[in-house]
Amino acid sequence: MSARAVVTVFVPGDAGALSLGADAVAKELARECRHRELAIRIVRNGSRGLYWLEPLVEVSTAAGRIAYGPVRAADIAALLDAGLLDGGAHALRLGNIEGHDWLRSQQRLTAARLGVVDPSDIDDYIAHGGYAGLHAALAMPPHEIVRAVTDSGLRGRGGAAFPTGLKWQTVHDRAAAQKYIACNADEGDSGTFADRMLMEGDPFALIEGMTIAGLAVGATQGFVYLRVEYPHAGRALARALHVARERGYLGQNLRESGRDFDISVRVGAGAYICGEETSMLESLEGRRGEVRVRPPLPAIKGLFGQPTVVNNVVTLATVPVILARGAAFYRDFGVGKSRGTVPLQLAGNVKQGGLVERAFGLTVNQLVYDYGGGTASGRPVRAVQIGGPLGAYLPPSAFDTPLEYEALSARDALLGHGGVVVFDDTVDMARMARFALAFCAIESCGKCTPCRVGSTRGVELVDRILATPGGAAADIALLDELCDTMQNGSLCGLGGLTPFPVRSALRHFAEDFG
Ligand SMILES: Cc1cc2nc3c(=O)[nH]c(=O)nc-3n(C[C@H](O)[C@H](O)[C@H](O)COP(=O)(O)O)c2cc1C
Ligand code: SF4
Repeated sequence: MSARAVVTVFVPGDAGALSLGADAVAKELARECRHRELAIRIVRNGSRGLYWLEPLVEVSTAAGRIAYGPVRAADIAALLDAGLLDGGAHALRLGNIEGHDWLRSQQRLTAARLGVVDPSDIDDYIAHGGYAGLHAALAMPPHEIVRAVTDSGLRGRGGAAFPTGLKWQTVHDRAAAQKYIACNADEGDSGTFADRMLMEGDPFALIEGMTIAGLAVGATQGFVYLRVEYPHAGRALARALHVARERGYLGQNLRESGRDFDISVRVGAGAYICGEETSMLESLEGRRGEVRVRPPLPAIKGLFGQPTVVNNVVTLATVPVILARGAAFYRDFGVGKSRGTVPLQLAGNVKQGGLVERAFGLTVNQLVYDYGGGTASGRPVRAVQIGGPLGAYLPPSAFDTPLEYEALSARDALLGHGGVVVFDDTVDMARMARFALAFCAIESCGKCTPCRVGSTRGVELVDRILATPGGAAADIALLDELCDTMQNGSLCGLGGLTPFPVRSALRHFAEDFG
């Protein structure tokens, strides 16, 4: 090997980057450096979320981290010839990625460490501000931790946007021998990936957030309910949990505090309805994922009948920021009742897809054009669907809507988990409406009639409308009536929200229904 210092090279181990060849890049880089007797250390970091540039390779140099992308295995030899390890010039060189407009304009709080740290290294996590929130929480009585979360204005990022502090207060106030923290990592919404990125790229943030939640409400056991399609996240979490336990950040008497908290991971079998919190609890208890009637709320009677905090990955991974930097700091971001920042996930037919964390209030236009750069196909944008398969479709005339809870609700839309999927002008919106109903029919748990039967009747109705030349006014009116029944009569959000994509397609794209 040469006398030069060992150079650190970052090659993402994120599932998105892997699907684009990151493993082959890492392998080729190691092989070629061995061959050239160049000493390198490869760190498999998370993705920074600029997916069109993945695999995004970064090299630690005296001038900072210099990025190259998208890198293919076949580019490695030429990159090394060009002086990759010194940040040398090459067509793929992007410079310091943190200076890239796409990242520089973001306000990354929850995702601040994504792509920056080594997800398996707890010392790296701590060096980048990790565990400051837990240390603050350990010095506070439980009700003050709850108050900090309440004062921050944090609302659940899983979809329902329920105030997190209020949920925690309810569990805190219950007297029970055993309470639980259940992290919802089912991430079933189409076009969403923030939970996955966080678990793969910064798993200690979730562990820290869950631990703080446990201290706040008096829970000693946490569960992560992980979707089966996320094996990389499962491995990253398992590694991080092991290290956190070894270093005394989990387990009995954590950090010599006299408090206990530990976390187990449970893998779901793959059903959209298991993301609904009561189905998730059923599944966690080993039963078929079927929705429970509420009340009682999980905060009163949740996992194994005990008071349980159910929160999404993003919600929990945001908690350390609030404890470390203060409720007022977090609350100062955002607009109206949508406080803080939100990791938006841009996907579908878009040129520059990825993760955009900004204070609430960015408009759809800004997200789709300024960040997304328009469609990947180069054709005009015709629609976006916001909030997963149960979210409304918005036409370009509504793209001035700010991405925040109240503004979207005023447009009969919802933010959900923050996924925004882009479609160009070749999309057939009647087909999309049919798809929403067919999806509901397949994924329905079957417990209530409006959803179980309504979704199938809805598919039949759309088929009839499409088969009727010149349209079928009576059937369109009937479809609208069916949507009313599903929206108002369903037991949970699956049946209750499926009318959103259907009705928005009917309202904004009526011409597609003949
Ligand atoms: C059909 C359906 C699917 C859902 N899927 C998810 C999911 O995959 N992940 C999630 O965090 N929340 C999901 N939710 C929302 C949860 O029921 C619940 O509101 C959330 O986990 C609470 O956490 P939060 O307050 O941190 O958002 C879903 C809700 C419904 C109705
Ligand atoms: S709305 Fe659908 S998924 Fe929800 S409880 Fe009813 S049948 Fe089950």
